[in-house]
Amino acid sequence: MDNGKVMKMPMPSIDGVKVAVRVRPFSQREKNSGSKCVISMHSRTTTTIQDPKNPEHVKTFTFDLAYWSHSGFQKDKDGVLISADPSSKFAGQRDVFHDLGRGILDSAWQGYNATLLAYGQTGSGKSYSMIGFGANKGIIPNVCEELFQAIEKQEKHQEYQVTFSMLEIYNEQIRDLLSRTKKPGGLKVREDQQLGFYVEGLTSVPCENYAQIERLMEQGTKIRTTASTNMNASSSRSHVVITIQFKQVFPDRDLTKQSSINLVDLAGSERQKSSGSEGDRLREGSRVNLSLTNLGNVISALADAAMGKRVLHVPYRDSVLTKLLQSALGGNSRTALIAAISPADICYEETLSTLRYAERAKKIRNRAVVNTWTLLRQWRAENKLRCRDSGMAEQPAWLPAEQQLGTRATQVPWAHLLQQAWAAWEQQYEAAAQERQMVKTLPHLLNVNEDPQLTGVLKYFIPPGSCDIGQAASNAITIQGLGISDKHASFTNSDGKVTVAPHSKCKVVVNGVPIATRTKLQHLDRIILGSNSAYLYVGFPSERGGEDLSRFDYDFFQLERAAAEGVNVDKLGATNSGEGQADPGVLAVFQDYIKLMPLVAEANQMSEELKKGLKMELKVKNLASSDSRGCELQKEVMVKVTDWRTQQVWIWSKAKFINRKFLMEELYQRFLDGEDSHVAQDDDPFWDPVEVVHLGSAHIWLQPLAYCMKLEEQVAFLDCEGLEEAVLHVSIIPCSPTGRAHGEEDMVIDPLEMLGERMDFQIRIVQCLGVKWLKEGARRGIQIGYRIYDLPNTIYTKPVWKIVNPQIEETIQFTALNASQEFLNYLQTNALIVDLWGLQDGCAELSCSQPDLTVTGEGHIMVDTRKIPTVKDTSQTTSNQISELYLKLHKLEQETELLRNINRALRKENVFLKESLAKIGSGQQAHKPSSTLKTTGMTARLPPATEMNPMCTQQASCDRQFAKALKVFYQGMNTARAQFLTLRQYKPPEDDQMLRPFVHQQSQMFKDFGDLLESSLWKLKNDVALIVKKKREYLLHIK
Ligand SMILES: Nc1ncnc2c1ncn2[C@@H]1O[C@H](COP(=O)(O)OP(=O)(O)OP(=O)(O)O)[C@@H](O)[C@H]1O
Ligand SMILES: [Mg+2]
Repeated sequence: MDNGKVMKMPMPSIDGVKVAVRVRPFSQREKNSGSKCVISMHSRTTTTIQDPKNPEHVKTFTFDLAYWSHSGFQKDKDGVLISADPSSKFAGQRDVFHDLGRGILDSAWQGYNATLLAYGQTGSGKSYSMIGFGANKGIIPNVCEELFQAIEKQEKHQEYQVTFSMLEIYNEQIRDLLSRTKKPGGLKVREDQQLGFYVEGLTSVPCENYAQIERLMEQGTKIRTTASTNMNASSSRSHVVITIQFKQVFPDRDLTKQSSINLVDLAGSERQKSSGSEGDRLREGSRVNLSLTNLGNVISALADAAMGKRVLHVPYRDSVLTKLLQSALGGNSRTALIAAISPADICYEETLSTLRYAERAKKIRNRAVVNTWTLLRQWRAENKLRCRDSGMAEQPAWLPAEQQLGTRATQVPWAHLLQQAWAAWEQQYEAAAQERQMVKTLPHLLNVNEDPQLTGVLKYFIPPGSCDIGQAASNAITIQGLGISDKHASFTNSDGKVTVAPHSKCKVVVNGVPIATRTKLQHLDRIILGSNSAYLYVGFPSERGGEDLSRFDYDFFQLERAAAEGVNVDKLGATNSGEGQADPGVLAVFQDYIKLMPLVAEANQMSEELKKGLKMELKVKNLASSDSRGCELQKEVMVKVTDWRTQQVWIWSKAKFINRKFLMEELYQRFLDGEDSHVAQDDDPFWDPVEVVHLGSAHIWLQPLAYCMKLEEQVAFLDCEGLEEAVLHVSIIPCSPTGRAHGEEDMVIDPLEMLGERMDFQIRIVQCLGVKWLKEGARRGIQIGYRIYDLPNTIYTKPVWKIVNPQIEETIQFTALNASQEFLNYLQTNALIVDLWGLQDGCAELSCSQPDLTVTGEGHIMVDTRKIPTVKDTSQTTSNQISELYLKLHKLEQETELLRNINRALRKENVFLKESLAKIGSGQQAHKPSSTLKTTGMTARLPPATEMNPMCTQQASCDRQFAKALKVFYQGMNTARAQFLTLRQYKPPEDDQMLRPFVHQQSQMFKDFGDLLESSLWKLKNDVALIVKKKREYLLHIK
């Protein structure tokens, strides 16, 4: 208890967290991919989001504020974005500051703690709102500026003390952004009974004007950028916390009123899709998302508590960020959250998740109190702290944040502290002024970072003469980064031109193209050094115009590099929809590719330096190969990992690769820090147990089976890129229950004839020819797997090792006891997908036993045994999936109705034909009794008996001919389909010289394909016309 003046406990003000949503304009990337806006805001408080896949599905959220910054704006002469016209609902930076920033300032003046958090996925506009870009200053600079303006206007007998600190949390480590020396392992969070959690040894600088704060922020951003370009921190995964301590000292009343303002730019909130990384044995290994995930847990727990649920534990202590934000969340602070969202349809899932997050945060109740202390009490509390920490603070022009307030008022005059603090920064001011001068006169390199906030922060000047660049401190330009050598390259600046030359085999890429010799640089050339350190070259002042440098952003570099390597949307298989707009699915995969490309280069570099022997390559997997309808579904990026020493191969999903990349970075950082980078095999992100590898898939269309026709084919196994991996010889033979193959006479004209009937068929895997996997590694093997219709598991053939053309000869008989409509539909529209699996030394083989399969008395495997799932069975699915299922169901019902109508018409015709036959039969009976045909008493109108037999035979022959015509047609179509698939996958060669033979061969294939289609159709038309003619003659005859 306070031993100074007795004070009344202040009454808390109970407030909810104030929540604002802000939607930004489309990014260039979104514009390029033809994104549509799925967000609308009809009032100052409502935000509506539409599901792009299901446009009727619209969700509305109500928050304290909704900012429309998506459209309706223009740039004024200073580059500030303002409303385009008075009717525009556009909200600019000033509008956001007006509501949120002023709220913070009000709280600060009253003595309340205030916190503002920016939440949202990467690139959604968090930093834009918090810090701002160029002339569009964000909330933080505006708050600081107005705070000092207000102080200026106050009476002079009071003292106003402002201190500033800036830290970054990455991977649960705290980095002081105002200190050049990096503490190994980061700064520690400590807890004090009175002050709560605080960061020990954090630099906190006393400031007396806004310009000083601006410099400090510049300084902090520079340190952050250097850390980020040194590779081991991806800035979008780090949180930045800026703290402004504001204290009003009233000496005449022996009182202080103080406020701690926390401004938090959170890490990108995107979640790793669980599919893909969920199978990774090291999924829980990385701590990179821990703080953000735990922040979500804390918010959920507090929201539950506010809703009256019993919450036993709020996990503040489980992560660094939540410890520091404890008072902001449910404690002594007035808190606001700005949820930054993208307007684009491709970000729908993430945006919805951000809005839901904001909705939970809105429920939290805080209990803020005015922090008034007597001078003595404050001095005692903080003096105690200072004694405990003494010696730990950084070398001090000033003391750590937690010791700043209060003690000073009684011990050292504030003015003295200000003076002390700024002496240390003077040198840096001079350096900054010098730098500004050099920018004007010398050619230089500007860093380009993935985070636009960090781009252009570092400048490397190229003075006249020659200078080296590299990791070693002896270079004129010292840079760090993956794949940068001690002496990496040299620049020369003479005769009014600048050239660059790589040292020995160091990687230098200019405008997307790797260079090996000295190369002249032009103003605005793009340079990548090592794996991924990107710089924009700014030439001599005479070369410069008023260009907009922001055009050369990180995306520009990566796209240019990809294009130079021959990767573009067309190559990934974009199909133009006619309006010059590529398929959105392919565009999305292209974006993924571009995003992962530099990461894969970095991972390879780390593997090399850590001597792990892995080579990682990006591949695009075409999911059509695993779709039994062969539809051109989505594509997916994946990473093929090869151990070049053992030739072992692994396939990693994108999510698994990203997860592993974070872990690799941690390990690599330990290596850089000179720590022991050895890890046990089980924890090694570069290691995985040897696995079976999926090599390719073959499609065997099942339509002939629906007509009880035999099918024998040689089809290609195509790998994920559509290239031939091997050829499969396979047959599917309809047969009797005893396994006797059906003949031509057993063929049916209409698959519906098999409805409810027993169907038996055998699948025979005969041989696999020319398996590349086996050619490439002598100690490898293969297995083949397939799964037909509703079989619960895959059937695998026995493993075959070390033979390039393995003879397999495995036949399995399947039985559908009562063929269902769905099964018959499946046969007509689907293909059997046969997968080829690669076995490698030390991997477990795929099990050939089939314990879960139901078999008939004869031992055949039963298919078509499942019940149609009811909606109840899908209770686990989300509401989204349910509405999708309903749509599908509705479509299916429509299709079924159509089929029913056709069926009805056919039945009618059948009845008519039967009646006619009966008539013929009864006529026949008059001459020759028959037990099969009924007497109708209409004999007089029947044709003479001599004509009867030929007519019956004629009818039967019609059916036979029809069946035959169909059979020929289906066979033709099967061949055509196979040819079509081959054509679709037929890729042009890399080598230009081979292009002519390729084009020639391709046109030949097109011609063959066209001929086959033409002749099949022509034959079918002729046959059907002939049959119809015969039938007509026959019917006329009956009448
Ligand atoms: N309201 C806005 N008006 C105009 N441009 C915006 C707006 N919000 C964001 N942007 C632009 O979008 C890009 C991404 O914004 P920003 O860097 O703020 O995203 P972020 O959420 O901080 O991403 P990260 O998580 O990677 O740090 C920037 O180029 C920025 O200029
Ligand atoms: Mg940011």
